[in-house]
Amino acid sequence: MPYPYVLLSAAVSLDGYLDDTGPERLLLSGPADFDRVDEVRASADAILVGAGTIRADNPRLLVNSPERRAARRAAGKPEYPLKVAVSGSGDLDPDANFWHTGGEKVVFTTAEGARRLAGRPVAADVVALGDTLDWPALLRHLHDQRGVRRLMVEGGGTVHTQLLLDGLADELQLVLAPLLVGDPSAPRLFGPGRYPSGRLRLVETRPVGDVVLMRYEPTAPGTGPLASAADRHWLALACELAARCPPSRTAFSVGAVVVAADGTELARGHSREGGDPVVHAEEAALAKIGPADPRLPGATVYTSLEPCTRRASRPRPCARLVLDAGVGRVVTAWREPDTFVTAADGTGVLTGAGLEVLVVPEYEEAARAPNRHLVG
Ligand SMILES: NC(=O)c1ccc[n+]([C@@H]2O[C@H](COP(=O)([O-])OP(=O)(O)OC[C@H]3O[C@@H](n4cnc5c(N)ncnc54)[C@H](OP(=O)(O)O)[C@@H]3O)[C@@H](O)[C@H]2O)c1
Repeated sequence: MPYPYVLLSAAVSLDGYLDDTGPERLLLSGPADFDRVDEVRASADAILVGAGTIRADNPRLLVNSPERRAARRAAGKPEYPLKVAVSGSGDLDPDANFWHTGGEKVVFTTAEGARRLAGRPVAADVVALGDTLDWPALLRHLHDQRGVRRLMVEGGGTVHTQLLLDGLADELQLVLAPLLVGDPSAPRLFGPGRYPSGRLRLVETRPVGDVVLMRYEPTAPGTGPLASAADRHWLALACELAARCPPSRTAFSVGAVVVAADGTELARGHSREGGDPVVHAEEAALAKIGPADPRLPGATVYTSLEPCTRRASRPRPCARLVLDAGVGRVVTAWREPDTFVTAADGTGVLTGAGLEVLVVPEYEEAARAPNRHLVG
């Protein structure tokens, strides 16, 4: 199921704190960065915070620039992004600024939280997600019921930690402020947990006044039955590679990327690359990796079309190559249609052999696009 693009936004001190323990909110950013945040808010369909931030900071979470609000209206969007609060307990102050400024609001809570909110209602739609708060369900609800495609998450640490731990964050926008807090009881950006392994990808860094903005994307493949944000990033790349294939009337255009468990790209390939008229994408990518590479068993193969199970052009089909490489996981966008081979079922062959295979249909359109002339 599709989720919104999830952007985590935070400012931290040089020693990694989100705030101090004083009664007032610690201002980590300066005017130039508050303006940058305003611009990011204006680009979002919704802004989410945890109940802890509402209690501690009493934020308004508005787009302050009249020009940016006018641009939103001109683009057919509401003047303000939807404001989203997350509270398990439902223990929220109905007088908080959050409920009385900006546009529409929604609170995601538990069944117990919804009962409490019924007794002390806040000016917002209340969505109860069950006995516990289920982040994938929350994101699906925002996507499907509220049309949210870009979600900005403005903290606090508890919320940021869970979204990163669960592999649901597409991007982290972190501002490093030139001051130190030094109080171990102050809130930190990220708490302890089993985070996706490896390094994040640095996509941008720039000074904004006296703070430094760093933008990161997660890279390590997911591990569970749901596609993580990094899985979606790599699958999108495989679909882009498919669009680069020399065209053919007799074979699909497919892209593939092989990624180690720590997020290192091991190889990529696409159909008919390097002047070989019959090479397949997975075959081209796997051929670039030494068969004894110790990273292969933990690696994930991302491929725009599921690996083939029968082919005339080479003795081993791609499903066999994937199995022989010892890879444990495949993420694909599109099940093979009967265009050239009937009931190919690469997914079935691989899962039957014990591999984890994820089909992510939200990328099927991108995978099919360079093959329109074959499949309509
Ligand atoms: N520097 C920055 O950029 C920045 C930005 C934002 C916030 N902050 C700071 O961060 C601090 C607040 O952070 P925080 O970690 O205490 O709070 P938080 O992340 O804002 O909110 C945590 C609360 O959200 C609800 N929640 C989150 N995940 C849940 C789940 N899986 N199930 C049920 N409920 C869930 C719970 O609400 P209930 O307790 O109602 O159940 C939980 O107590 C403040 O000091 C604030 O100033 C700093």
